[in-house]
Amino acid sequence: MKYKRSDFPQDFLFGIATSAYQIEGHAQGGAGGTHWDTFAATPGNVVNAENGDLACDHYNRFEQDLDLIKDAGFDCYRFSTSWARVLPEGRGPINQEGLDFYDRLTDALLERGIRPCATLYHWELPSPLADLGGWRNRDIAGWFADFTEIIMGRIGDRMFSVATINEPWCVSWLSHFEGHHAPGLRDVRATARAMHHVLLAHGHAVQAMRGLGMSNLGAVFNLEWAEPADDSPGAQEAAALYDGIYNRFFLGGVFNKAYPDNVLEGLAPYLPDGWQDDFDAIGVPVDWCGLNYYTRKLIAPADTPWPSVQEIPGPLPKTQMGWEIDPDALSRFLIRAAREYTGDLPIYVTENGMASPERRQDNDRIDYLDQHLNAVQVALKQGVPVKGYFVWSLLDNYEWALGYEKRFGLVDVDFETMTRTPKASYFALQEALAAG
Ligand code: FCB
Repeated sequence: MKYKRSDFPQDFLFGIATSAYQIEGHAQGGAGGTHWDTFAATPGNVVNAENGDLACDHYNRFEQDLDLIKDAGFDCYRFSTSWARVLPEGRGPINQEGLDFYDRLTDALLERGIRPCATLYHWELPSPLADLGGWRNRDIAGWFADFTEIIMGRIGDRMFSVATINEPWCVSWLSHFEGHHAPGLRDVRATARAMHHVLLAHGHAVQAMRGLGMSNLGAVFNLEWAEPADDSPGAQEAAALYDGIYNRFFLGGVFNKAYPDNVLEGLAPYLPDGWQDDFDAIGVPVDWCGLNYYTRKLIAPADTPWPSVQEIPGPLPKTQMGWEIDPDALSRFLIRAAREYTGDLPIYVTENGMASPERRQDNDRIDYLDQHLNAVQVALKQGVPVKGYFVWSLLDNYEWALGYEKRFGLVDVDFETMTRTPKASYFALQEALAAG
């Protein structure tokens, strides 16, 4: 790799990220059913109707996986805690085996000198809560705060950092407007409610953790740069709206206690009554901001009801996901986040990486990581307080609606035998992290 550890500030942290449902093997250890299990069981939603029942069997193999993290030289591990593994019904009875698992995982990280960075929710909502309306139901803020107290009551004393909800846009818009992720809805009212409640739940969880005396708490947003497809006013307006829905709504709610006007034009009629009164809870101070970044989109107007925007195929090189590779947009986002939303707060790139079909000599991934580390360097030079960078992901895993075909891992997984084989990118990062 072009970059090495010594090119970054001394306190800069390098980490690697995964999530519970994508690797653990959800059918094991007494976890309850989730909306991802039933979404996957419904024909047409997921490639080959694949689910997370076994995934990478991390539940039984986590020691081996943590050895891989340690041997690569990462400082931090970003993992998520499965709500349904801890509370199979979403509320009420605790699955002690689930709590014990996260306790063992935490200690196993500390034994290896790796900082535990938890994310409370990475998408597998317990089915009984989905039955009650899931993210559409305002009560989810309280249910989530209760789950937060239970899991962090057990492991919170040993976390380096905790994030609340991974990628509010995916939880709400992708899952309730586009229908691509569980619960697979396509309904603007459900979407507006989910968008607001996901931020409210974030705020309540932060308050719950403050109550436990915890610090180093953050929020994790996924950002996608919206580039007008041409220089017409229509394309500019469409791109600004896409940017509003995707990026500014969530950052604006949490850091500026306001939603963008262009988004409210379409969504206000569907937001829950009294939404304007929730910003003190939503905007409760956090200690850092996490940004997940993968790609940009070219946006043009569309002849549809609101939001009347469409994505146009772009000319840049693409990953196995079909996502254009645009590292410059990562620099622009880091700079913009600091200037318009987060000020002096530490920013972490909490996910970045690419899917590649190459299972051993993944030079394309090495190149992608180098280009995006360069983007971080650009932001650092502008004075943006970027404090760390996490690669997505350790292992090839369950890539949601795309099943097991799209491979994001630094480590190859043979899903028949569960054999782990580090790829060239793993060794390249190992060398880069050891240098300096
Ligand atoms: C992010 C998700 C993560 C993974 C990557 C590729 O949006 O947080 O679970 O699917 O994309």
